[in-house]
Amino acid sequence: MKPEIINVSLTRKLNDLSYPIFVGNNLLSQSKNIIKQFVYDRKVILIHDNFFSEKENSNHNFVDFVKTIKNLSKSINLIGISGGDKTKNISQLNLILEKSLSFEISRDSLIIAFGGGVVGDIAGFASSILLRGLDYIQIPTTLLSQVDSSVGGKTGINSSQSKNMIGSFHQPIAVIADINMLTTLPRREFLAGMVEIIKYGLIKDVSFFEYLEKNHEEILNLDQLKLKNIICMSCKIKSLIVKKDEKENGERALLNLGHTFGHAIESFGKYDGTIIHGEAVSIGICLAFKLSNKLGFCSQIETTRVINLLKILKLPTSLKDISISITTSKMLDKFKYDKKNKNNQLTFILNERIGKSFIKNNMDISVLKKFLDEEI
Ligand code: GLY
Repeated sequence: MKPEIINVSLTRKLNDLSYPIFVGNNLLSQSKNIIKQFVYDRKVILIHDNFFSEKENSNHNFVDFVKTIKNLSKSINLIGISGGDKTKNISQLNLILEKSLSFEISRDSLIIAFGGGVVGDIAGFASSILLRGLDYIQIPTTLLSQVDSSVGGKTGINSSQSKNMIGSFHQPIAVIADINMLTTLPRREFLAGMVEIIKYGLIKDVSFFEYLEKNHEEILNLDQLKLKNIICMSCKIKSLIVKKDEKENGERALLNLGHTFGHAIESFGKYDGTIIHGEAVSIGICLAFKLSNKLGFCSQIETTRVINLLKILKLPTSLKDISISITTSKMLDKFKYDKKNKNNQLTFILNERIGKSFIKNNMDISVLKKFLDEEI
């Protein structure tokens, strides 16, 4: 299978920040041709999920990739970190910063993030502040990070209040999404990634949603061509949105469909694995559609269709599907920390129909309260 290259074309104040996303099979074990141009003669810091190691019996994609970098770069140092959301915090960031500096990096050093969304976000953030900004490459190893967090340059860590409250916009110089990494991904993680893929259809592209409805069985059976199609399609939709609105002053907020509810739900799970990001967003998307329907923006038929696809994928679709204690007042309190809010007014992403999301500012709290009382 030939890799597909999607170009994220982007400029910031006349600076060209464009970069390629490589999507394909066995890209890491045969990475020489792709990676050479980026690492040649540079000092590389590889920040990876502790799940991967250099031992021969570890994931062969990782082992092969490290060998390739060793051959092509000036030097390589590895920093293993925990990939859980619980440790996406300032202590782990500090550890990465101090360790990276101990390797005597300079401005032409390169960071490579190898892992899921947490590794990519925290390594990307470290890259943006080390020596006031280093180049970095994203090697996303989960479905969710391949279609969402590795693309678009949002980097950061969680605060004690909420998710991703401390961070920066720092674009990678390349993204390498190897579909082969998904063959060993736990089923739960795979399904969580599917939620973000469905989200793209819901926001922008009804025919993509229909494709997912029609092909979900083959996708769940890891049909390589279909997987490549949906990863490429997701990255294309995201890159077009990011090109128009890199720093989320408008349209990029649509990518947050289901995330206002989702981030709140996730935080009640205390990031201990009771509920993972994609599952919380799955419920969040259903709530966003139900709310859209309640407010007269979206039909019941479309709302049911969305919920049905998520149900077929065995994802939670209602607050009643999870055993986490949530109250309306606690939920409303969490919404205060949403980065989309303006002038203390809540902003939600709602839908007119499948394929057409919109930004709803000044959400009426009493309507929201009544809605949540019925849902909880
Ligand atoms: N994950 C949402 C965004 O990148 O804007």
